[in-house]
Amino acid sequence: MEQLKAGVIGCGSHAQRHFAMIAAEPRLRLAAIAEVDPARLKANAAEHRPDRAFDDYRQMLAETDLNVVYVVTMPGQLTPIVLDCLERDLHVSVEKPPGMSSADTERMADAAQRSKGKAMVSFNRRYIPEVLAVRRLARERGEVIHCAATYNQALTTLGTPAMSGIAPDPVICDAIHHVDLLRWLAGSSEGTAARPVEIHATAQDGDRAGAQRQSAVIGFDNGAVGVLMSNYGVGYRIQRAEVHAEDLLVYLDLTRKPRYEVYEAIPQTDGTTEGRAIQEQLDLGPTGGAGHDETGHFVDCILNDQTPWSTLDDAVYTMRLCEAIRRGHKGSL
Ligand SMILES: NC(=O)c1ccc[n+]([C@@H]2O[C@H](COP(=O)([O-])OP(=O)(O)OC[C@H]3O[C@@H](n4cnc5c(N)ncnc54)[C@H](O)[C@@H]3O)[C@@H](O)[C@H]2O)c1
Repeated sequence: MEQLKAGVIGCGSHAQRHFAMIAAEPRLRLAAIAEVDPARLKANAAEHRPDRAFDDYRQMLAETDLNVVYVVTMPGQLTPIVLDCLERDLHVSVEKPPGMSSADTERMADAAQRSKGKAMVSFNRRYIPEVLAVRRLARERGEVIHCAATYNQALTTLGTPAMSGIAPDPVICDAIHHVDLLRWLAGSSEGTAARPVEIHATAQDGDRAGAQRQSAVIGFDNGAVGVLMSNYGVGYRIQRAEVHAEDLLVYLDLTRKPRYEVYEAIPQTDGTTEGRAIQEQLDLGPTGGAGHDETGHFVDCILNDQTPWSTLDDAVYTMRLCEAIRRGHKGSL
């Protein structure tokens, strides 16, 4: 089997996750890496053993014959690199958030329309096997009625002057994972995320830089309702979600290894229903199995000429929604 040649631009901490997924995907070979920090370049070249290593990504693009590039820099550096890759008709995995603002995402989405390469935003919550199995369960009951997500975190450098020009505010840079997860959980069909049409958001920040707090009720185009709570500068990093469909309730905890509780209501002879906890494990098989991840999905899309689930066009909706939450917008979107 001929392997696709992969390159990675930006070899910091999150790139290690991409290196592991690339190594586990037999249809990919790590052909090249690029990193501006000399010590990181040396260490990553020694550990991951790409065919070639570069301190300038442009040289890497010019001198190697790559098929797919993972851009894993901070958002402030990401957009021009993604644009360069798309101009060369390469397939591009774009780290989240896709740029500093929705305007950046739109520029990249426009470039993707002109490119022969496919682009996929690394909204990795969408590809978690348990999340996919829960979506399938909910869709078996009809539309999702309501979903909720929390994304809380102790104080980080996000939202402080140290991150100016490097990363946007926490809900756009980081809690975007669960803003996007709400769209994904509310989606009506496989591969489709719901689009927000209205919002009632509040943003109430604490005294310390980076202590940004947001709550939002979101109305989606298919009638589902989403609720987001995201607080930075609170006690701990917690990432949870819940999904309500007809006679179905699921709690998801994605803080570490995914955990879940599933409840269903059984019709009774008197016309009421009686709830019970489902003890069986979620069936992960029909949605790709326990090993499903974003990397395998992207390779499938490249080899079968299909559209990834998380395109740049679709990411524009998530970025605009994050921005609306951050400014405490109330009204239509
Ligand atoms: N999907 C997730 O779950 C998840 C988790 C953590 C971080 N992230 C995202 O990953 C991105 C990177 O985060 P990180 O923590 O790895 O940051 P990092 O600072 O550790 O790594 C970024 C690397 O990019 C390098 N770089 C910058 N400009 C470059 C250029 N022009 N050419 C080559 N290399 C360049 C930097 O030197 C650095 O080593 C961020 O956007 C972050 O939001 C995603």
